[in-house]
Amino acid sequence: MPDPTPTRDPSTLRSARWWAPDDQRSFGHRSRLKQMGFNTEDFQAKPTIGILNTWSEVNNCHTHFRDRAEEVKRGVWQAGGFPLEIPVMSLSESFMKPTSMYYRNLLALEVEETLKCYPIDGAVLMGGCDKTVPALIMGATSANIPSIFLPAGPMLKGCWRGETLGSGTDMWKYWAERQAGNLCEDSWSELEDGIARSPGHCMTMGTASTMTAIAEVLGLCLPGSTSIPAVHSTHARMASQCGRQIVELAWDKVRPRDLLTEDAFHNAIVTDMALGGSTNAIIHLIAMAGRAGVSLTLDQFDEISQQVQVIANIRPCGEHVMEDFYDAGGILGLLSQVKEHLRLDAPTVSGKTLGENLEGAEVFDEDVIRPLSRPVGKAGGTFVLRGNLAPDGAVIKPTAAEERLLSHRGPAVVFSDYADLKDRIHDESLGLTADHVIVLQNAGPIGAPGIPEWGMLPIPDYLLKQGVRDMLRISDARMSGTSYGACVLHVAPESAIGGPLALVQDGDFIEVSVAERKLHLDVSDEVLEERRSQWKPRPKRFQRGYGRLYADEITQAPEGCDFRFLHQGEDDDEPDIF
Ligand code: FES
Repeated sequence: MPDPTPTRDPSTLRSARWWAPDDQRSFGHRSRLKQMGFNTEDFQAKPTIGILNTWSEVNNCHTHFRDRAEEVKRGVWQAGGFPLEIPVMSLSESFMKPTSMYYRNLLALEVEETLKCYPIDGAVLMGGCDKTVPALIMGATSANIPSIFLPAGPMLKGCWRGETLGSGTDMWKYWAERQAGNLCEDSWSELEDGIARSPGHCMTMGTASTMTAIAEVLGLCLPGSTSIPAVHSTHARMASQCGRQIVELAWDKVRPRDLLTEDAFHNAIVTDMALGGSTNAIIHLIAMAGRAGVSLTLDQFDEISQQVQVIANIRPCGEHVMEDFYDAGGILGLLSQVKEHLRLDAPTVSGKTLGENLEGAEVFDEDVIRPLSRPVGKAGGTFVLRGNLAPDGAVIKPTAAEERLLSHRGPAVVFSDYADLKDRIHDESLGLTADHVIVLQNAGPIGAPGIPEWGMLPIPDYLLKQGVRDMLRISDARMSGTSYGACVLHVAPESAIGGPLALVQDGDFIEVSVAERKLHLDVSDEVLEERRSQWKPRPKRFQRGYGRLYADEITQAPEGCDFRFLHQGEDDDEPDIF
Protein backbone atom coordinates (compact mmCIF):
# COMPACT_ATOMS: atom_id res chain seq x y z
CA MET A 1 0.00 0.00 0.00
CA PRO A 2 1.12 3.61 -0.50
CA ASP A 3 3.16 5.22 2.22
CA PRO A 4 0.53 6.30 4.81
CA THR A 5 2.49 9.46 5.59
CA PRO A 6 3.41 10.81 2.17
CA THR A 7 5.80 13.69 2.25
CA ARG A 8 6.67 16.50 -0.09
CA ASP A 9 10.17 16.79 1.33
CA PRO A 10 12.46 17.01 -1.73
CA SER A 11 15.28 15.30 0.16
CA THR A 12 13.17 12.10 0.11
CA LEU A 13 13.18 12.01 -3.69
CA ARG A 14 15.34 9.35 -5.23
CA SER A 15 16.70 11.88 -7.72
CA ALA A 16 17.98 14.06 -4.88
CA ARG A 17 20.92 11.64 -4.63
CA TRP A 18 21.97 12.81 -8.10
CA TRP A 19 20.99 16.49 -8.09
CA ALA A 20 21.25 17.74 -4.48
CA PRO A 21 24.61 16.97 -2.80
CA ASP A 22 27.30 19.61 -2.59
CA ASP A 23 30.04 17.44 -4.03
CA GLN A 24 32.05 17.00 -7.19
CA ARG A 25 29.86 14.20 -8.62
CA SER A 26 26.63 16.18 -8.26
CA PHE A 27 28.33 19.25 -9.68
CA GLY A 28 28.92 17.09 -12.76
CA HIS A 29 25.26 16.00 -12.89
CA ARG A 30 23.92 19.54 -12.54
CA SER A 31 26.36 21.06 -15.00
CA ARG A 32 25.37 18.45 -17.59
CA LEU A 33 21.68 19.27 -17.13
CA LYS A 34 22.65 22.89 -17.78
CA GLN A 35 24.51 21.72 -20.88
CA MET A 36 21.08 20.57 -22.11
CA GLY A 37 19.61 24.01 -21.47
CA PHE A 38 17.87 23.40 -18.15
CA ASN A 39 18.02 25.96 -15.34
CA THR A 40 18.38 25.04 -11.68
CA GLU A 41 14.70 25.96 -11.17
CA ASP A 42 13.71 23.36 -13.75
CA PHE A 43 14.95 20.39 -11.74
CA GLN A 44 15.83 21.43 -8.20
CA ALA A 45 13.56 19.98 -5.52
CA LYS A 46 11.21 18.48 -8.11
CA PRO A 47 10.38 14.85 -8.90
CA THR A 48 12.28 13.77 -12.00
CA ILE A 49 9.90 11.93 -14.32
CA GLY A 50 11.26 9.46 -16.88
CA ILE A 51 9.03 9.20 -19.93
CA LEU A 52 9.86 5.78 -21.36
CA ASN A 53 8.89 6.10 -24.99
CA THR A 54 8.63 3.08 -27.30
CA TRP A 55 8.25 5.33 -30.36
CA SER A 56 10.19 4.10 -33.37
CA GLU A 57 9.89 4.40 -37.13
CA VAL A 58 9.54 0.63 -37.26
CA ASN A 59 6.58 0.64 -34.90
CA ASN A 60 3.44 1.39 -36.91
CA CYS A 61 1.23 1.41 -33.80
CA HIS A 62 3.18 4.13 -31.97
CA THR A 63 3.53 6.79 -34.67
CA HIS A 64 1.73 9.37 -32.48
CA PHE A 65 4.05 8.84 -29.50
CA ARG A 66 6.35 11.77 -30.32
CA ASP A 67 3.39 14.13 -29.92
CA ARG A 68 2.11 12.27 -26.88
CA ALA A 69 5.50 12.53 -25.16
CA GLU A 70 5.31 16.33 -25.53
CA GLU A 71 1.81 16.29 -24.07
CA VAL A 72 3.03 14.21 -21.12
CA LYS A 73 5.86 16.72 -20.55
CA ARG A 74 3.34 19.57 -20.52
CA GLY A 75 1.47 17.80 -17.71
CA VAL A 76 4.65 17.06 -15.76
CA TRP A 77 5.75 20.73 -15.90
CA GLN A 78 2.26 21.87 -14.89
CA ALA A 79 2.34 19.64 -11.80
CA GLY A 80 5.81 20.78 -10.74
CA GLY A 81 7.85 17.85 -12.01
CA PHE A 82 10.92 17.66 -14.23
CA PRO A 83 10.33 15.48 -17.34
CA LEU A 84 13.05 13.63 -19.22
CA GLU A 85 12.09 11.53 -22.25
CA ILE A 86 14.03 8.27 -22.59
CA PRO A 87 13.68 6.05 -25.66
CA VAL A 88 13.52 2.32 -24.97
CA MET A 89 13.38 -0.64 -27.33
CA SER A 90 10.25 -0.71 -29.49
CA LEU A 91 8.70 -4.13 -30.00
CA SER A 92 6.88 -3.88 -33.30
CA GLU A 93 4.45 -6.76 -33.61
CA SER A 94 4.31 -6.36 -37.37
CA PHE A 95 7.98 -6.35 -38.24
CA MET A 96 10.01 -8.15 -35.53
CA LYS A 97 11.12 -11.68 -36.34
CA PRO A 98 10.95 -14.44 -35.32
CA THR A 99 8.35 -12.79 -33.05
CA SER A 100 8.13 -9.79 -30.73
CA MET A 101 7.53 -12.26 -27.89
CA TYR A 102 11.14 -13.39 -28.23
CA TYR A 103 12.15 -9.85 -27.17
CA ARG A 104 9.51 -9.14 -24.49
CA ASN A 105 11.90 -10.07 -21.69
CA LEU A 106 14.72 -8.05 -23.24
CA LEU A 107 12.60 -4.87 -23.17
CA ALA A 108 11.50 -5.73 -19.62
CA LEU A 109 15.13 -6.01 -18.59
CA GLU A 110 16.00 -2.74 -20.35
CA VAL A 111 13.13 -0.95 -18.60
CA GLU A 112 14.12 -2.31 -15.19
CA GLU A 113 17.75 -1.28 -15.58
CA THR A 114 16.89 2.09 -17.15
CA LEU A 115 14.65 2.98 -14.23
CA LYS A 116 17.24 1.85 -11.72
CA CYS A 117 20.32 3.49 -13.19
CA TYR A 118 18.91 6.98 -13.82
CA PRO A 119 17.67 9.59 -11.33
CA ILE A 120 14.00 8.76 -11.86
CA ASP A 121 11.35 9.32 -9.21
CA GLY A 122 8.42 8.32 -11.38
CA ALA A 123 7.93 6.83 -14.84
CA VAL A 124 5.39 7.19 -17.63
CA LEU A 125 5.38 3.94 -19.58
CA MET A 126 4.33 4.57 -23.18
CA GLY A 127 3.22 1.37 -24.89
CA GLY A 128 0.39 -0.37 -26.64
CA CYS A 129 1.61 -2.58 -29.45
CA ASP A 130 1.24 -6.11 -28.07
CA LYS A 131 4.34 -7.13 -26.10
CA THR A 132 5.31 -3.57 -25.21
CA VAL A 133 2.55 -3.62 -22.58
CA PRO A 134 3.66 -6.61 -20.47
CA ALA A 135 7.33 -5.78 -21.06
CA LEU A 136 7.05 -2.22 -19.73
CA ILE A 137 4.99 -3.38 -16.76
CA MET A 138 7.28 -6.30 -15.94
CA GLY A 139 10.34 -4.03 -15.96
CA ALA A 140 8.68 -1.28 -13.91
CA THR A 141 7.40 -3.85 -11.41
CA SER A 142 10.85 -5.29 -10.90
CA ALA A 143 12.37 -1.81 -10.53
CA ASN A 144 9.38 -0.89 -8.31
CA ILE A 145 9.59 2.82 -9.05
CA PRO A 146 6.27 4.76 -9.18
CA SER A 147 4.86 4.34 -12.67
CA ILE A 148 1.80 5.10 -14.75
CA PHE A 149 1.00 3.36 -18.01
CA LEU A 150 0.06 5.52 -21.01
CA PRO A 151 -1.82 3.30 -23.49
CA ALA A 152 -1.32 3.92 -27.21
CA GLY A 153 -5.05 3.53 -27.86
CA PRO A 154 -6.62 1.59 -30.71
CA MET A 155 -6.45 2.78 -34.31
CA LEU A 156 -9.66 3.82 -36.08
CA LYS A 157 -11.76 1.11 -37.71
CA GLY A 158 -10.81 -0.12 -41.16
CA CYS A 159 -13.16 -0.04 -44.13
CA TRP A 160 -13.50 -1.80 -47.49
CA ARG A 161 -16.42 -1.11 -49.82
CA GLY A 162 -18.62 0.01 -46.93
CA GLU A 163 -17.70 -2.94 -44.73
CA THR A 164 -15.88 -2.52 -41.42
CA LEU A 165 -12.48 -4.18 -41.34
CA GLY A 166 -10.87 -5.37 -38.11
CA SER A 167 -7.10 -5.67 -37.63
CA GLY A 168 -5.81 -9.16 -38.19
CA THR A 169 -9.21 -10.83 -37.95
CA ASP A 170 -10.39 -9.64 -41.36
CA MET A 171 -7.00 -10.21 -42.89
CA TRP A 172 -7.24 -13.91 -41.95
CA LYS A 173 -10.85 -14.05 -43.11
CA TYR A 174 -10.22 -12.54 -46.54
CA TRP A 175 -6.96 -14.46 -46.98
CA ALA A 176 -8.97 -17.67 -46.67
CA GLU A 177 -11.36 -16.33 -49.33
CA ARG A 178 -8.42 -15.47 -51.57
CA GLN A 179 -6.92 -18.94 -51.11
CA ALA A 180 -10.33 -20.40 -51.92
CA GLY A 181 -10.32 -18.40 -55.18
CA ASN A 182 -13.17 -16.06 -54.14
CA LEU A 183 -11.29 -12.75 -54.12
CA CYS A 184 -9.51 -11.03 -57.02
CA GLU A 185 -6.15 -9.28 -56.83
CA ASP A 186 -7.68 -5.77 -56.98
CA SER A 187 -9.94 -6.48 -54.02
CA TRP A 188 -7.02 -7.89 -52.06
CA SER A 189 -5.05 -4.73 -52.78
CA GLU A 190 -7.99 -2.51 -51.71
CA LEU A 191 -8.17 -4.45 -48.46
CA GLU A 192 -4.48 -3.75 -47.89
CA ASP A 193 -5.17 -0.01 -48.32
CA GLY A 194 -8.18 0.03 -46.01
CA ILE A 195 -7.41 -2.18 -43.03
CA ALA A 196 -5.02 0.09 -41.07
CA ARG A 197 -5.93 3.76 -41.45
CA SER A 198 -4.56 5.67 -38.48
CA PRO A 199 -1.97 5.58 -35.71
CA GLY A 200 -2.80 3.26 -32.82
CA HIS A 201 -2.68 -0.42 -32.02
CA CYS A 202 -4.84 -3.18 -33.54
CA MET A 203 -8.49 -2.31 -32.99
CA THR A 204 -9.88 -5.80 -32.58
CA MET A 205 -9.72 -7.59 -29.21
CA GLY A 206 -6.18 -8.71 -29.94
CA THR A 207 -3.34 -8.75 -27.48
CA ALA A 208 -2.94 -4.96 -27.49
CA SER A 209 -6.58 -4.16 -26.66
CA THR A 210 -6.63 -6.98 -24.11
CA MET A 211 -3.38 -6.10 -22.38
CA THR A 212 -4.00 -2.36 -22.20
CA ALA A 213 -7.43 -3.02 -20.67
CA ILE A 214 -5.74 -5.37 -18.22
CA ALA A 215 -3.11 -2.73 -17.40
CA GLU A 216 -5.96 -0.40 -16.49
CA VAL A 217 -7.73 -2.97 -14.31
CA LEU A 218 -4.45 -3.75 -12.58
CA GLY A 219 -4.57 -0.13 -11.45
CA LEU A 220 -1.76 1.23 -13.62
CA CYS A 221 -3.68 3.58 -15.97
CA LEU A 222 -5.99 6.55 -15.63
CA PRO A 223 -9.64 5.38 -15.48
CA GLY A 224 -11.11 4.79 -18.92
CA SER A 225 -7.89 5.73 -20.71
CA THR A 226 -7.25 2.42 -22.45
CA SER A 227 -10.33 2.53 -24.67
CA ILE A 228 -9.71 6.00 -26.13
CA PRO A 229 -8.86 5.79 -29.86
CA ALA A 230 -5.28 6.89 -30.50
CA VAL A 231 -6.14 9.88 -32.67
CA HIS A 232 -8.89 11.42 -30.55
CA SER A 233 -8.10 14.75 -28.91
CA THR A 234 -9.23 13.06 -25.66
CA HIS A 235 -6.17 10.85 -26.04
CA ALA A 236 -3.85 13.87 -26.15
CA ARG A 237 -5.54 15.34 -23.08
CA MET A 238 -5.25 11.99 -21.30
CA ALA A 239 -1.49 12.06 -22.01
CA SER A 240 -1.01 15.38 -20.21
CA GLN A 241 -3.17 14.10 -17.35
CA CYS A 242 -0.75 11.13 -17.09
CA GLY A 243 2.05 13.69 -16.78
CA ARG A 244 0.28 15.51 -13.96
CA GLN A 245 -0.66 12.31 -12.14
CA ILE A 246 2.79 10.71 -12.17
CA VAL A 247 4.16 13.73 -10.30
CA GLU A 248 1.64 13.04 -7.52
CA LEU A 249 2.52 9.32 -7.52
CA ALA A 250 6.22 10.14 -7.33
CA TRP A 251 5.72 12.40 -4.30
CA ASP A 252 3.44 9.86 -2.63
CA LYS A 253 5.78 6.96 -3.46
CA VAL A 254 3.00 4.81 -4.92
CA ARG A 255 4.92 1.92 -6.43
CA PRO A 256 3.81 -0.81 -8.85
CA ARG A 257 4.01 -3.56 -6.25
CA ASP A 258 1.64 -1.53 -4.03
CA LEU A 259 -0.97 -1.90 -6.78
CA LEU A 260 -0.22 -5.32 -8.25
CA THR A 261 -1.78 -7.44 -5.52
CA GLU A 262 -3.61 -10.75 -5.69
CA ASP A 263 -6.87 -8.79 -5.88
CA ALA A 264 -5.59 -6.80 -8.86
CA PHE A 265 -4.70 -9.98 -10.74
CA HIS A 266 -8.06 -11.53 -9.90
CA ASN A 267 -9.69 -8.44 -11.44
CA ALA A 268 -7.43 -8.74 -14.47
CA ILE A 269 -8.53 -12.32 -15.12
CA VAL A 270 -12.21 -11.38 -14.73
CA THR A 271 -11.70 -8.60 -17.28
CA ASP A 272 -9.84 -10.88 -19.67
CA MET A 273 -12.74 -13.34 -19.61
CA ALA A 274 -15.42 -10.68 -20.05
CA LEU A 275 -13.52 -9.16 -22.97
CA GLY A 276 -13.00 -12.52 -24.72
CA GLY A 277 -9.37 -11.43 -24.55
CA SER A 278 -6.36 -12.73 -26.37
CA THR A 279 -5.04 -16.12 -25.29
CA ASN A 280 -1.67 -14.37 -24.96
CA ALA A 281 -2.98 -12.57 -21.89
CA ILE A 282 -2.59 -15.75 -19.85
CA ILE A 283 1.14 -15.95 -20.47
CA HIS A 284 1.66 -12.23 -19.87
CA LEU A 285 -0.44 -12.11 -16.71
CA ILE A 286 1.45 -15.04 -15.19
CA ALA A 287 4.75 -13.31 -16.02
CA MET A 288 3.65 -9.92 -14.67
CA ALA A 289 2.28 -11.51 -11.49
CA GLY A 290 5.57 -13.34 -11.05
CA ARG A 291 7.40 -9.99 -11.04
CA ALA A 292 5.01 -8.73 -8.36
CA GLY A 293 5.45 -11.84 -6.20
CA VAL A 294 1.93 -13.11 -6.91
CA SER A 295 1.53 -16.72 -8.01
CA LEU A 296 -1.03 -17.37 -10.76
CA THR A 297 -1.95 -20.78 -12.14
CA LEU A 298 -3.76 -21.85 -15.30
CA ASP A 299 -6.49 -23.31 -13.11
CA GLN A 300 -7.38 -19.83 -11.80
CA PHE A 301 -8.06 -18.72 -15.38
CA ASP A 302 -10.22 -21.74 -16.07
CA GLU A 303 -12.14 -21.30 -12.82
CA ILE A 304 -12.96 -17.65 -13.55
CA SER A 305 -13.86 -18.50 -17.16
CA GLN A 306 -16.71 -20.59 -15.72
CA GLN A 307 -18.06 -17.64 -13.74
CA VAL A 308 -17.67 -14.69 -16.13
CA GLN A 309 -19.00 -14.81 -19.67
CA VAL A 310 -17.74 -12.89 -22.69
CA ILE A 311 -19.80 -9.69 -22.92
CA ALA A 312 -17.64 -7.58 -25.25
CA ASN A 313 -19.07 -8.05 -28.73
CA ILE A 314 -15.72 -7.31 -30.39
CA ARG A 315 -13.93 -9.22 -33.13
CA PRO A 316 -12.68 -11.94 -33.28
CA CYS A 317 -15.26 -13.31 -30.77
CA GLY A 318 -17.92 -10.78 -31.80
CA GLU A 319 -18.87 -8.27 -34.47
CA HIS A 320 -17.60 -4.80 -33.55
CA VAL A 321 -14.21 -3.09 -33.11
CA MET A 322 -12.61 -0.91 -30.43
CA GLU A 323 -13.94 2.40 -31.74
CA ASP A 324 -17.46 1.04 -31.19
CA PHE A 325 -16.40 -0.24 -27.76
CA TYR A 326 -15.23 3.24 -26.75
CA ASP A 327 -18.47 4.85 -27.91
CA ALA A 328 -20.47 2.17 -26.07
CA GLY A 329 -18.90 3.05 -22.72
CA GLY A 330 -15.43 1.53 -23.03
CA ILE A 331 -13.66 -0.44 -20.37
CA LEU A 332 -15.44 1.34 -17.51
CA GLY A 333 -18.79 0.45 -19.07
CA LEU A 334 -17.71 -3.18 -19.38
CA LEU A 335 -16.43 -3.33 -15.80
CA SER A 336 -19.69 -1.87 -14.54
CA GLN A 337 -21.40 -4.99 -15.94
CA VAL A 338 -19.16 -7.45 -14.09
CA LYS A 339 -18.86 -5.49 -10.83
CA GLU A 340 -20.11 -8.41 -8.75
CA HIS A 341 -17.03 -10.42 -9.79
CA LEU A 342 -14.50 -7.68 -9.08
CA ARG A 343 -12.58 -6.88 -5.93
CA LEU A 344 -13.50 -3.23 -5.86
CA ASP A 345 -11.17 -2.13 -3.07
CA ALA A 346 -8.08 -2.58 -5.24
CA PRO A 347 -6.08 0.69 -5.34
CA THR A 348 -5.22 2.42 -8.62
CA VAL A 349 -2.95 5.21 -9.87
CA SER A 350 -5.91 7.60 -9.86
CA GLY A 351 -5.62 7.65 -6.07
CA LYS A 352 -9.05 6.01 -5.90
CA THR A 353 -10.07 2.38 -5.68
CA LEU A 354 -11.28 0.46 -8.70
CA GLY A 355 -14.80 0.66 -7.28
CA GLU A 356 -14.57 4.44 -6.97
CA ASN A 357 -13.30 4.69 -10.55
CA LEU A 358 -16.44 2.84 -11.68
CA GLU A 359 -18.88 5.24 -10.07
CA GLY A 360 -21.17 6.60 -12.76
CA ALA A 361 -19.86 4.20 -15.44
CA GLU A 362 -22.54 3.32 -17.98
CA VAL A 363 -23.12 1.28 -21.11
CA PHE A 364 -24.55 3.25 -24.03
CA ASP A 365 -24.92 0.44 -26.56
CA GLU A 366 -25.95 -2.95 -25.24
CA ASP A 367 -25.19 -4.66 -28.50
CA VAL A 368 -21.50 -3.80 -28.18
CA ILE A 369 -21.17 -4.27 -24.41
CA ARG A 370 -23.75 -6.85 -23.49
CA PRO A 371 -25.35 -7.34 -20.08
CA LEU A 372 -24.38 -10.60 -18.35
CA SER A 373 -27.90 -11.82 -19.04
CA ARG A 374 -27.24 -11.68 -22.81
CA PRO A 375 -23.56 -12.60 -23.26
CA VAL A 376 -21.66 -13.12 -26.52
CA GLY A 377 -20.40 -16.48 -25.26
CA LYS A 378 -21.80 -18.89 -22.70
CA ALA A 379 -18.57 -18.80 -20.71
CA GLY A 380 -15.36 -16.78 -20.39
CA GLY A 381 -12.90 -16.18 -23.19
CA THR A 382 -10.25 -18.82 -22.56
CA PHE A 383 -10.43 -22.43 -21.35
CA VAL A 384 -7.60 -24.63 -20.08
CA LEU A 385 -7.30 -28.19 -21.41
CA ARG A 386 -5.25 -31.02 -19.93
CA GLY A 387 -4.58 -34.65 -20.69
CA ASN A 388 -1.80 -36.98 -21.73
CA LEU A 389 -0.99 -34.63 -24.64
CA ALA A 390 -0.61 -31.57 -22.39
CA PRO A 391 0.08 -32.66 -18.79
CA ASP A 392 0.96 -29.08 -17.82
CA GLY A 393 -1.94 -27.58 -19.75
CA ALA A 394 -2.95 -25.98 -23.03
CA VAL A 395 -5.46 -23.24 -23.86
CA ILE A 396 -8.30 -22.72 -26.33
CA LYS A 397 -10.64 -19.81 -27.05
CA PRO A 398 -13.96 -21.60 -27.61
CA THR A 399 -15.94 -18.49 -28.58
CA ALA A 400 -13.67 -18.05 -31.60
CA ALA A 401 -14.08 -21.67 -32.80
CA GLU A 402 -16.70 -23.59 -34.77
CA GLU A 403 -19.04 -25.32 -32.33
CA ARG A 404 -18.65 -28.78 -33.97
CA LEU A 405 -14.92 -28.80 -33.13
CA LEU A 406 -15.33 -28.22 -29.41
CA SER A 407 -15.96 -31.94 -29.01
CA HIS A 408 -14.00 -33.75 -31.68
CA ARG A 409 -11.97 -36.88 -32.39
CA GLY A 410 -9.88 -37.17 -35.49
CA PRO A 411 -6.66 -38.52 -37.00
CA ALA A 412 -3.53 -36.41 -36.64
CA VAL A 413 -1.40 -35.08 -39.45
CA VAL A 414 1.91 -34.02 -37.97
CA PHE A 415 4.36 -31.32 -39.07
CA SER A 416 7.74 -31.35 -37.37
CA ASP A 417 8.22 -27.56 -37.55
CA TYR A 418 6.83 -24.53 -39.36
CA ALA A 419 9.05 -24.98 -42.41
CA ASP A 420 7.68 -28.50 -42.81
CA LEU A 421 4.13 -27.18 -42.42
CA LYS A 422 4.70 -24.51 -45.06
CA ASP A 423 6.17 -27.06 -47.48
CA ARG A 424 3.46 -29.69 -47.22
CA ILE A 425 0.18 -28.30 -45.86
CA HIS A 426 -1.34 -27.62 -49.29
CA ASP A 427 -0.18 -30.94 -50.76
CA GLU A 428 -3.35 -32.72 -51.85
CA SER A 429 -1.67 -36.11 -51.62
CA LEU A 430 -1.88 -35.82 -47.82
CA GLY A 431 -5.60 -36.34 -48.34
CA LEU A 432 -6.75 -34.26 -45.38
CA THR A 433 -10.41 -33.90 -44.55
CA ALA A 434 -12.19 -31.39 -42.33
CA ASP A 435 -12.03 -33.99 -39.55
CA HIS A 436 -8.25 -34.27 -39.46
CA VAL A 437 -6.34 -32.71 -36.58
CA ILE A 438 -3.39 -30.61 -37.72
CA VAL A 439 -0.45 -30.86 -35.31
CA LEU A 440 2.60 -28.57 -35.33
CA GLN A 441 5.67 -29.46 -33.27
CA ASN A 442 8.71 -27.36 -32.30
CA ALA A 443 6.89 -24.04 -32.19
CA GLY A 444 7.16 -23.37 -28.44
CA PRO A 445 9.36 -21.08 -26.34
CA ILE A 446 12.55 -23.03 -27.08
CA GLY A 447 11.52 -24.89 -30.22
CA ALA A 448 10.69 -21.96 -32.50
CA PRO A 449 12.22 -20.08 -30.58
CA GLY A 450 10.05 -17.44 -28.90
CA ILE A 451 6.64 -19.23 -28.99
CA PRO A 452 5.53 -17.27 -32.09
CA GLU A 453 1.96 -16.62 -33.17
CA TRP A 454 1.86 -19.56 -35.56
CA GLY A 455 -0.96 -21.39 -33.76
CA MET A 456 -3.73 -20.49 -36.23
CA LEU A 457 -2.30 -23.16 -38.53
CA PRO A 458 -3.31 -22.77 -42.18
CA ILE A 459 -6.12 -24.86 -43.59
CA PRO A 460 -5.17 -26.60 -46.86
CA ASP A 461 -6.23 -24.63 -49.96
CA TYR A 462 -8.15 -27.57 -51.37
CA LEU A 463 -10.28 -27.76 -48.21
CA LEU A 464 -10.85 -23.98 -48.27
CA LYS A 465 -12.17 -24.41 -51.82
CA GLN A 466 -14.59 -27.04 -50.49
CA GLY A 467 -15.88 -24.46 -47.99
CA VAL A 468 -14.01 -25.66 -44.89
CA ARG A 469 -13.22 -22.66 -42.66
CA ASP A 470 -12.17 -24.27 -39.36
CA MET A 471 -10.31 -27.38 -38.30
CA LEU A 472 -8.91 -28.63 -35.01
CA ARG A 473 -5.32 -27.46 -34.80
CA ILE A 474 -2.85 -28.19 -32.00
CA SER A 475 0.57 -26.69 -31.30
CA ASP A 476 2.91 -25.42 -28.64
CA ALA A 477 2.81 -22.00 -30.34
CA ARG A 478 0.67 -18.98 -29.47
CA MET A 479 -1.76 -17.29 -31.82
CA SER A 480 -2.50 -13.64 -32.39
CA GLY A 481 -5.36 -12.33 -30.29
CA THR A 482 -6.90 -11.21 -33.57
CA SER A 483 -6.97 -14.82 -34.84
CA TYR A 484 -9.75 -17.33 -34.51
CA GLY A 485 -10.51 -21.00 -35.02
CA ALA A 486 -10.38 -24.24 -33.06
CA CYS A 487 -6.73 -23.79 -32.16
CA VAL A 488 -5.30 -25.53 -29.10
CA LEU A 489 -2.29 -23.48 -28.06
CA HIS A 490 0.61 -23.29 -25.58
CA VAL A 491 0.74 -27.09 -25.21
CA ALA A 492 3.06 -27.75 -22.27
CA PRO A 493 5.60 -29.08 -21.84
CA GLU A 494 6.59 -28.10 -25.37
CA SER A 495 7.76 -30.64 -27.92
CA ALA A 496 11.33 -29.28 -28.12
CA ILE A 497 12.01 -30.45 -24.57
CA GLY A 498 10.34 -33.83 -25.08
CA GLY A 499 6.75 -32.98 -24.15
CA PRO A 500 4.18 -35.54 -25.38
CA LEU A 501 3.42 -33.36 -28.42
CA ALA A 502 6.82 -34.51 -29.73
CA LEU A 503 5.59 -38.11 -29.74
CA VAL A 504 2.49 -37.69 -31.92
CA GLN A 505 2.62 -39.46 -35.27
CA ASP A 506 0.49 -39.27 -38.43
CA GLY A 507 -2.71 -41.22 -38.02
CA ASP A 508 -2.79 -41.18 -34.19
CA PHE A 509 -6.25 -40.26 -32.98
CA ILE A 510 -6.60 -37.13 -30.88
CA GLU A 511 -9.64 -36.26 -28.85
CA VAL A 512 -10.65 -32.84 -27.60
CA SER A 513 -13.58 -32.18 -25.32
CA VAL A 514 -13.74 -28.56 -24.30
CA ALA A 515 -16.64 -29.22 -21.91
CA GLU A 516 -14.53 -31.83 -20.12
CA ARG A 517 -11.32 -29.76 -20.53
CA LYS A 518 -9.77 -32.82 -22.16
CA LEU A 519 -6.92 -33.11 -24.65
CA HIS A 520 -6.17 -36.78 -25.19
CA LEU A 521 -3.78 -38.64 -27.47
CA ASP A 522 -5.35 -42.03 -28.08
CA VAL A 523 -2.11 -44.02 -27.92
CA SER A 524 -1.27 -46.47 -25.14
CA ASP A 525 1.22 -45.56 -22.42
CA GLU A 526 3.47 -48.44 -23.55
CA VAL A 527 3.67 -47.17 -27.14
CA LEU A 528 4.30 -43.61 -25.91
CA GLU A 529 7.08 -44.88 -23.64
CA GLU A 530 8.66 -46.70 -26.59
CA ARG A 531 8.48 -43.53 -28.73
CA ARG A 532 9.94 -41.49 -25.85
CA SER A 533 12.95 -43.78 -25.64
CA GLN A 534 13.64 -43.09 -29.34
CA TRP A 535 13.15 -39.31 -29.11
CA LYS A 536 16.17 -37.02 -29.34
CA PRO A 537 16.26 -33.23 -28.83
CA ARG A 538 17.31 -31.06 -31.75
CA PRO A 539 20.79 -29.52 -31.50
CA LYS A 540 20.96 -26.13 -29.77
CA ARG A 541 20.38 -23.39 -32.28
CA PHE A 542 22.37 -20.61 -30.57
CA GLN A 543 25.76 -20.92 -28.95
CA ARG A 544 26.10 -17.25 -28.02
CA GLY A 545 24.32 -13.94 -27.49
CA TYR A 546 20.69 -13.30 -26.68
CA GLY A 547 19.61 -16.57 -28.29
CA ARG A 548 21.68 -18.54 -25.83
CA LEU A 549 20.54 -16.51 -22.83
CA TYR A 550 16.96 -17.02 -23.97
CA ALA A 551 17.28 -20.78 -24.41
CA ASP A 552 19.03 -21.20 -21.07
CA GLU A 553 16.61 -19.12 -19.03
CA ILE A 554 13.15 -19.23 -20.63
CA THR A 555 10.31 -20.90 -18.73
CA GLN A 556 7.36 -22.73 -20.26
CA ALA A 557 4.01 -21.11 -21.14
CA PRO A 558 2.22 -21.99 -17.86
CA GLU A 559 5.05 -20.22 -16.02
CA GLY A 560 4.76 -17.07 -18.17
CA CYS A 561 7.79 -17.54 -20.46
CA ASP A 562 9.80 -15.20 -18.25
CA PHE A 563 13.51 -15.61 -17.64
CA ARG A 564 14.18 -17.65 -14.51
CA PHE A 565 16.85 -15.25 -13.24
CA LEU A 566 14.41 -12.31 -13.41
CA HIS A 567 12.08 -14.02 -10.97
CA GLN A 568 14.65 -14.46 -8.25
CA GLY A 569 14.11 -12.49 -5.03
CA GLU A 570 14.66 -8.81 -4.51
CA ASP A 571 17.96 -7.03 -5.04
CA ASP A 572 19.51 -4.10 -3.30
CA ASP A 573 18.28 -2.08 -6.23
CA GLU A 574 19.72 1.39 -5.62
CA PRO A 575 22.96 2.07 -7.49
CA ASP A 576 26.01 3.43 -5.68
CA ILE A 577 26.87 7.00 -6.58
CA PHE A 578 30.54 7.68 -5.94
FE1 FES B 1 0.77 -3.34 -33.06
FE2 FES B 1 -1.21 -5.18 -33.66
S1 FES B 1 0.54 -4.58 -34.85
S2 FES B 1 -0.91 -4.03 -31.89
